[in-house]
Amino acid sequence: MSKPKVLATRPLFPSARKLLESEFEVEYWTSPDRIPRAELLNRVADKDALVCLLTERVDSELLAAAPKLRIAASVSVGHDNIDLEACTQRNVVATHTPGVLDDTTADFAWALLMAVARRVLEGDAWIRAGGWPGWDLDQLCGGDAWGKTLGIIGFGRIGRGVARRAYGFNMRVLYNDAVRAPVNVEEQLRAEHVDRDKLLRDSDFVTLHVPLLPDTQHLITKDNLAKMKPTAYLINTSRGQVVDEAALAEALEQRKIAGAALDVYENEPAVHPALVSRKDVVLTPHIASASIDTRTKMAVMAANNVVALFQGKRPPNALNADALGLK
Ligand code: GLV
Repeated sequence: MSKPKVLATRPLFPSARKLLESEFEVEYWTSPDRIPRAELLNRVADKDALVCLLTERVDSELLAAAPKLRIAASVSVGHDNIDLEACTQRNVVATHTPGVLDDTTADFAWALLMAVARRVLEGDAWIRAGGWPGWDLDQLCGGDAWGKTLGIIGFGRIGRGVARRAYGFNMRVLYNDAVRAPVNVEEQLRAEHVDRDKLLRDSDFVTLHVPLLPDTQHLITKDNLAKMKPTAYLINTSRGQVVDEAALAEALEQRKIAGAALDVYENEPAVHPALVSRKDVVLTPHIASASIDTRTKMAVMAANNVVALFQGKRPPNALNADALGLK
């Protein structure tokens, strides 16, 4: 009997490849360029499973082009690239990769926080450009993190990981989330639940850890930026669309806040040009989960979901398992 066919839109990592290749006939997109949409629709046409990235939309158009498809496994925790309703309608299981990237992403939010507050990139650029005259009293003075107030919007696994790390910096931790954390979690993390306005007003650092949902789209608006302290910094490792980038550029220009550190952008890979030219902004290319270990675990997790389905099991990270009535 012929093996089921899988399309993976990246070559993945050897451990994930091994898992897939033991059970399936796997086709990889290996070009360094992202798979063009037309190519994706064409190649998925005869596939039983798709392992994709957050940059590939799994929507009714793709599903219509892939009549045999049984599963779309995204190598990402965020799944705003997947139209879950359309998947459920077509009886396609959609999966993501929760849990394995929390600490790596929380680490990176801290890397951004420290980089923007302590002007790490400006210092690096100065030395490389030549002309640094040696130590002086008032060079590149930035903001302290220790002892300050950290405001975390979105208090899921990653937000809590960020809070856990704040302990060592002796920070006051505020958080805002639609769902309040259990008291024991608040106590353990020394985190106080506050409304969003208070968080924006009181925090020296505001860090975003919400999924992209209709409610969180442009959660950071011009008005919300105006509520922040002029000495505060905004950190975003969630999704670019959570922040109104034009409003952020304007707020920085008007010195409404002190700086921003961004890993994600509204229209990736484009970045608002007014942000690119600013020294008070740190920009990284959507790499918060990009440690070798974590990205490998994400790929393996996606592969395991595909393997599980074809072994007749419920894929462990199915997003629409209940809607599909999977046991
Ligand atoms: C990265 O942004 C992810 O959602 O995994």
